[in-house]
Amino acid sequence: MRVDVVSIFPGYLDALDLSLVGKARRDGVLDLRVHDLRDWTTDRHRTVDDTPFGGGAGMVMRPDVWGRALDDVLGEGGSGRTVLVLPTPSGERLTQRSVEDLATADRLVIACGRYEGIDARVADHYAGAEAPEVREISLGDYVLNGGEVAALVVVEAVARLLPGVVGNPESLVEESHGTGSKGGLLEYPVYTKPAEWAGRPVPDVLLSGHHGKVARWRRDQALERTVRRRPDLIEALEPAELDRGDRAV
Ligand code: ADE
Repeated sequence: MRVDVVSIFPGYLDALDLSLVGKARRDGVLDLRVHDLRDWTTDRHRTVDDTPFGGGAGMVMRPDVWGRALDDVLGEGGSGRTVLVLPTPSGERLTQRSVEDLATADRLVIACGRYEGIDARVADHYAGAEAPEVREISLGDYVLNGGEVAALVVVEAVARLLPGVVGNPESLVEESHGTGSKGGLLEYPVYTKPAEWAGRPVPDVLLSGHHGKVARWRRDQALERTVRRRPDLIEALEPAELDRGDRAV
């Protein structure tokens, strides 16, 4: 997959050299390119923003600079499905389901806004074109200083779904928010050695070697955790996602 990130702080994306995403890049699974939006400015001060029409606090990013940048970056790609991702607190919420969808694209272009955001005509302009697909995406109901952290989140969440990035694909199956047959439950608690630490023993069932009992205990823990911490996820469960051993929740 090819991913391009455009930002006025390209250094923010340096973390994508590390860990599994860094390895995916070195292995050629992920072709990630980071661009400095200011390379598309035309004035001496390399201006990317201006005051908002209609008044109000803060600055708005100029559509002409973004338009030149995105036309060039989008134009570099080959054929296939391209998604233009615009991180913004007013976007649709990023979920594991939307991450799975983004992971099926051939190409992502992530445009990181700063200040009060990007002039709204930029999203409208590209959404009105035949390609790319445009997705305005929010990490959650809080405000960050810009889209760079969201770009890090999208790239990491998408990259780990690409074939060969996570060593053991089984570990993708039982995770919190999985959208597979396990349903959207939070993950059960996990333990490792030593079997007792700070006066706290590991639950006996995990040492029993009884796979059926371990599976039932984990499922109950996942259900209990989800009921307590994220009742909204329980509401959203399909009846088919519950199994016969699940107690009434
Ligand atoms: N930019 C600023 N706040 C954001 C958020 N919550 N999600 C995505 N992008 C953002």
